[in-house]
Amino acid sequence: TPPVPRNSATRLTGRKNLKTYRQRLNLQELKHWSLNPAAVHHQRTELASFVDVSAELSLTRSTLLPGQLLHFDYSPKHYVFVVSAALHSLLPILPPFHGRHFNSCAVVGNGGVLTGSGCGQRIDTADFVIRCNFAPTTGYVHDVGNRTSLTTFNPSIIDGRYGGLLTANDRERFLNRLQELDGAVLWIPAFLFHTSAVITRTLVDFFLENKSRLGVQLAWPGPLVGHITRFWRTRALAPKRLSTGMLMYTIASAFCDEISLYGFWPFAWEPISGRPLPYHYYARRGARFTTAWQEAHQLPAEFRLFQQLHGQGALRLHLGSCT
Ligand code: CTP
Repeated sequence: TPPVPRNSATRLTGRKNLKTYRQRLNLQELKHWSLNPAAVHHQRTELASFVDVSAELSLTRSTLLPGQLLHFDYSPKHYVFVVSAALHSLLPILPPFHGRHFNSCAVVGNGGVLTGSGCGQRIDTADFVIRCNFAPTTGYVHDVGNRTSLTTFNPSIIDGRYGGLLTANDRERFLNRLQELDGAVLWIPAFLFHTSAVITRTLVDFFLENKSRLGVQLAWPGPLVGHITRFWRTRALAPKRLSTGMLMYTIASAFCDEISLYGFWPFAWEPISGRPLPYHYYARRGARFTTAWQEAHQLPAEFRLFQQLHGQGALRLHLGSCT
């Protein structure tokens, strides 16, 4: 195999390296897969020595008190977040899915590779479906399905997609979207950056105001992300920040036997046809691949780890068509 450029993520995603990467990724091999319960068990046990995911999926009413100060994972220590009585009342009594176990989980990344995959039905048959960053499913159901057991929700989504909840229209749109997710867990990593503090308070107010109309369960992770970060450092993965997709796979590995990954392909071209891809499956038509993630993430390095775990039978990577 020709040498692989290591340092530049731009080179890693560039089309000119398509041939090299096709060889290195060995896509044919990705098709042959069988579950290896020993590899699943090994992964789970190693993770368990760093974190009890089931207990730490969310902060709870008994682990925090109103008035307590929280620090942010990725901000200097002098930034604090005071737990208000309002936030405290929104914490679960126990973390969602506490002590539960699932046979099959689908973890859905948001890669453009999902477009035209026809994977929706297969994703929806999993016992537990995890999605990232409140990604839309309406209009994409054939490729991504529509069941959601858990979706991550970074508070900054409120600013980016719902106008900071400043207008009646934005509030209504957000409420409608939440109502579509009835019964799902909204996993809100609010304590990563101090820059999310103000919008988190807006979000807390919104949830309280609409409590009786909401069917989603709220989860507010605390030290969990830091523990998972330390775990991956032992496998030579040490980016500024793990991607949401990597966090979700890791969480799934704690309570799920057969894990399938969809939409994980941080490259600018489709693996089989080589046609150019946008970064997201929900990108507007003609959008180009973005490499903005390079500032914080090491997606190609994460992908290589997924590929290794696929080879060991600990997870299944789905690329290409499901039909
Ligand atoms: N992903 C991928 N390939 C892509 C797009 C996304 O592997 N082309 C995976 C990444 O693990 C990513 C996850 O899908 O974290 C969710 O995608 P997205 O919402 O686009 O996440 P980002 O905004 O890129 O980043 P973050 O991880 O900070 O949420």
